Amino acid sequence: MTIAVCPGSFDPFTLGHLDVVRRARRLVGEVVVGVARNSAKSTLLTLDERLALARDAVADLDGVRVEPVPGLLVDFCRDVGATVVVKGLRGGADYDAEVPMALMNRHLADVETVFVVGDGALAHVASSLVKDVARYGGQIDDLVPRGVGDAVRAALARRADAPTAPLPPSTDRRPEEPR
Ligand code: PNS
Repeated sequence: MTIAVCPGSFDPFTLGHLDVVRRARRLVGEVVVGVARNSAKSTLLTLDERLALARDAVADLDGVRVEPVPGLLVDFCRDVGATVVVKGLRGGADYDAEVPMALMNRHLADVETVFVVGDGALAHVASSLVKDVARYGGQIDDLVPRGVGDAVRAALARRADAPTAPLPPSTDRRPEEPR
């Protein structure tokens, strides 16, 4: 039986992610959703929150489970017995971002990556946009699985309460102006 990993930061898990996981499951016998860390991003939600929301979202899908990725994705693939990574593409920007990762994972451990084209109706759904819309009070509940909207709003409120670092001393000059 072929096992695939669907990796991501899932900050938060969206209906676009769910669509890709469903498509991956049609191709292979088992899908492991790997909740990973992307060192280029800092997350709004904690790892435990991202895991719980992803688990809720796939709870009714047979042959799909969710696990944390503690380190390199290729090590995780080996540990769960996966030979393939499945990722979704919404367009060319996704392709440009994904190909170097796919090549690196093949370089490191001969792990193949399969790209699936997601539902066109969800092509605008990205975790980053979902967070931005929620941050400014917009409606996100029709873009994410049940429970995710509340978790995102709670995390944003938590962050708004958190003490922030003091701003640097202000000057009246624009940075590029000579003294
Ligand atoms: O949802 P994202 O942020 O686009 O997913 C990127 C992710 C988390 C899959 C990628 O950063 C990753 O695989 N992280 C785990 C650490 C790792 O293996 N890094 C090298 C990737 S080539």
